[in-house]
Amino acid sequence: MRISVAIDGPAGAGKSTIAKLIADRFSLMYINTGSMYRAVTLKALEKGISPNDTEGVCTIIENLNMHFNNDRLILNGEDVNDLITVPEISHNVSAYASIKEVREKLVKLMQQMAKEYDVIMDGRDIGTVVLKNAPFKFFLTASPKERASRRYNELTSKGLDVVYEEILKDIIRRDDLDTNREVDPLRKADDAIEIDTTGIGIDEVVNKIASFIK
Ligand code: DC
Repeated sequence: MRISVAIDGPAGAGKSTIAKLIADRFSLMYINTGSMYRAVTLKALEKGISPNDTEGVCTIIENLNMHFNNDRLILNGEDVNDLITVPEISHNVSAYASIKEVREKLVKLMQQMAKEYDVIMDGRDIGTVVLKNAPFKFFLTASPKERASRRYNELTSKGLDVVYEEILKDIIRRDDLDTNREVDPLRKADDAIEIDTTGIGIDEVVNKIASFIK
């Protein structure tokens, strides 16, 4: 039987950093599902297709080929990770991620990946929709200010010129959109273990999660 670990939570709660470390420790494939929604956003923006144009967005998703290679998303043969983590994509992604047809297509793809590999997936609806039967589910949170300063440090360390207040505003706006959308909103699964990572070191969170998986 395949092993699957689900990690959900709002933007900047530490999901991807922690999921990668758990993936290494337990030899799991790490699947960052947010990057799949970001990839759809990248292509839609490149082609000037608005999130209100569901038909146009559907044409885009029919022609997307996605897979992961060492934590990195390969989109139609191209490593797009640097292109999808910029603020313009972060700002627009929630609108595309709330389209029912986009979610149906990507959820199927995620479920297929989980059938083929032992996975740890992070996102917003992994424990509630994508891997409803996962034996290990975690819900990570942190205060909006802490999440914004983590994102700020991550982006400035990559040399991007960003403003902390703008990032905080965007995180609060995205929390609202992701939590209140109609299709598969962000929420903790009833059987997920909640961990507030505010002021806690990465190692401590990783050890806590690892102790459940063991
Ligand atoms: O984790 P992230 O910030 O890269 O995710 C980008 C956006 O994608 C986020 O605002 C909500 C959406 N998302 C989603 O709706 N469902 C997922 N499983 C993962 C991400």
